Amino acid sequence: MSVLSLATPRARGLMILTAHPEGCRVLAERQIERARDAFPEPLAAAEGKTALILGSTTFGYGSSIAIALKEAGFAKIIGVGYETPPAFRDEKIAMAPAGWYLTEALHQAYPEQRTYFGDAFSDETRDRVIDDLQAAGERIDLLVYSVAAPRRSHLEETWTSALKVVGDPLDVIGLDFKSGEHTEVHLDPASDLEIEHTRRVMGGDDLALWTNALLYADRANPGLKVAPLSYIGPDFEPLRRIYWDGALGGAKKHIDATTRSLNARLEKRIGGSAFTCMNPAVVTGASVAIPAMLKYIADYLAVVDSGIGDYDDPLAVGIGFANALYGEAKDPGQGEPWRQMLDDEGRLRLDGHELVAETQVAIRDLWNSAKSGPVTALTARGHELFRTEFMRLYGWEVPGVDYEAETDFAPPLGDKQGVVHLLE
Ligand SMILES: NC(=O)c1ccc[n+]([C@@H]2O[C@H](COP(=O)([O-])OP(=O)(O)OC[C@H]3O[C@@H](n4cnc5c(N)ncnc54)[C@H](O)[C@@H]3O)[C@@H](O)[C@H]2O)c1
Repeated sequence: MSVLSLATPRARGLMILTAHPEGCRVLAERQIERARDAFPEPLAAAEGKTALILGSTTFGYGSSIAIALKEAGFAKIIGVGYETPPAFRDEKIAMAPAGWYLTEALHQAYPEQRTYFGDAFSDETRDRVIDDLQAAGERIDLLVYSVAAPRRSHLEETWTSALKVVGDPLDVIGLDFKSGEHTEVHLDPASDLEIEHTRRVMGGDDLALWTNALLYADRANPGLKVAPLSYIGPDFEPLRRIYWDGALGGAKKHIDATTRSLNARLEKRIGGSAFTCMNPAVVTGASVAIPAMLKYIADYLAVVDSGIGDYDDPLAVGIGFANALYGEAKDPGQGEPWRQMLDDEGRLRLDGHELVAETQVAIRDLWNSAKSGPVTALTARGHELFRTEFMRLYGWEVPGVDYEAETDFAPPLGDKQGVVHLLE
């Protein structure tokens, strides 16, 4: 065992440089318990199935969906995520990221799980996953695309996404993570090239490559479901401009278009389906990278804390996802429940709570009255709630964890534990 005592995190603004191994393990175990409570009995339609989840390794949507599916009755989860091991350089220790310790906890709970630490965008990773499926005689029932990345390399080209608006520049009031004060945020418009780069990173190209690889290699079971995750958010002008009508939204619209064409092909070839999942805004590593999203989510948390509406964290959404896909239909004549949850564009809506009118009116009141500088008590409360959720993504501030105690920061996580390393 390699142990050390790590009482406080090293951080640079929103970059938490050290994860807490024990905190991550305890949090993962609590999530597993929560999902177990949500599914006291397996869902008949989920039993024995296998999911491939791309982007499964952080405390975000991928791992939450993995836990929910497993507790709902899935036989096996195969995950892919970008995680690097702990390292020793000279006398210094570079801790592994939180995803390493979360993955360790998941493999402890689910020994049949397989995880690839690799670049999901690379042919090498995709080929290896497909080869292993072939060698093991496994087929996939559900592909979840939950990758969130700042850049993508493919065929010797590298693209970088731009978190910018389209058209005129935008000035809004954001919330500073460190000071907890309101600050002015200026968003530049993306150039056509930046919009295209963003589409190449976060659009549907890679989703299509993975789906086609499963089909061509005959690794898809009949009825394969393909579910990429997306966000649209409320019809509230500044937020729309930042996300759905911005460069990132352009990429997400490309996901929609790709998914529609995959759906037609899957239906015809194997009776399968593809549908985008519109998930709600939650605190994850990916959402905080988006300008002013911290302010929006902090306000959302504050509003719910004040007694208005509901906030679904990633695990609650994961449980809802499993129920939508594999739960019992209210009216069996109408088919699987998710089919009744599609919007006019054929997208599965899991963002109902976020979009409740009363909740949105309260968030807007906070947003519209914000001025640069110190914040109101309600916004301060939202900031505190956000900060706690955010620290937990790295295993910090988890109730019941003794942060003075020694913790194993380099647990074995290799072939024996079902983890394949492709990044070394
Ligand atoms: N966070 C939100 O508020 C929100 C809301 C709706 C939809 N979504 C969508 O959900 C999806 C997942 O986002 P999240 O918020 O859970 O983010 P996250 O940062 O927690 O998870 C991203 C995952 O992608 C993996 N990843 C990144 N680059 C990779 C690479 N090159 N190769 C392999 N894996 C890689 C990471 O290891 C991680 O497992 C995204 O598509 C995002 O747009 C997020």
